[in-house]
Amino acid sequence: MKSDYEGVFRHPDAVSKYDDVVYAEDSYASQINRRQRHWLRSLVTAEFGPGQVTQHDFACGTGRALESLAGTVRAAHGYDTSTAMIERAVGKGIDAEFHVVDEHGSPPQPVPTDGPSIVTVFRLLLNTSADVRDRTMAFAAGALPDPGSGVLVVENHGNRRSLRHLGSRRTRRSDEWFNELSSAQIRELFARHGFVLESVHGFAVLPKGAYRVRRLRRIASAIDDAARLMPFLAAVSTNVVYVGRRRP
Ligand SMILES: C[S@@+](CC[C@H](N)C(=O)[O-])C[C@H]1O[C@@H](n2cnc3c(N)ncnc32)[C@H](O)[C@@H]1O
Repeated sequence: MKSDYEGVFRHPDAVSKYDDVVYAEDSYASQINRRQRHWLRSLVTAEFGPGQVTQHDFACGTGRALESLAGTVRAAHGYDTSTAMIERAVGKGIDAEFHVVDEHGSPPQPVPTDGPSIVTVFRLLLNTSADVRDRTMAFAAGALPDPGSGVLVVENHGNRRSLRHLGSRRTRRSDEWFNELSSAQIRELFARHGFVLESVHGFAVLPKGAYRVRRLRRIASAIDDAARLMPFLAAVSTNVVYVGRRRP
């Protein structure tokens, strides 16, 4: 974990790198985002019906998960410690209310809203501290007080049981950000905060390295599109998303 994880995303260079490099069109991350968006919109429609649920996107960054659900939710709120990330989201015209939250002190609270909620937490838990993981789950528990109040959707972009792990020795030498998080750790975190892990969904079996060579990228993408249709591969996917609900 980076020692000042929050601080990294306050820097203007990190903000533009996030949108323009990490999520550049055709990048590994944007291919995953395309698959996730399709699945997330179907989840919301099947679970709540169109325009019925309020989204609370914790660590919203530049608004990726908010954009994914645009038009399918009744209202949306984005929460983040970085005003620079939020300003970028606002600049994109994303239809949501944004809230700057504290990184220390009592855990941030969701804005009170009527009806069901979906709490989304994308690309936060992997690289952050145990304390922030607990703050995040306390936030989710505030928005989702009981089993009927909605669902929690959490992305882990570094699943420990994946092909990414096999390349970890090489990656670790060059990348101080190499972290891993297992589904067992997520299950334990969920349980400690009164959530049941209901399902795990995979969005890329291949690691980022498989997309490095431009002319092979389409093949890699086709493999991951096909893998997406095989739910048993979720457990070994590099990028996984967990769905949880409050315990009865
Ligand atoms: C990798 S970005 C992910 C942004 C967005 N969720 C996405 O998936 O595109 C991580 C985000 O977490 C935010 N963040 C870091 N620590 C946080 C904390 N303690 N509470 C809330 N947000 C935090 C950062 O400012 C940054 O916007």
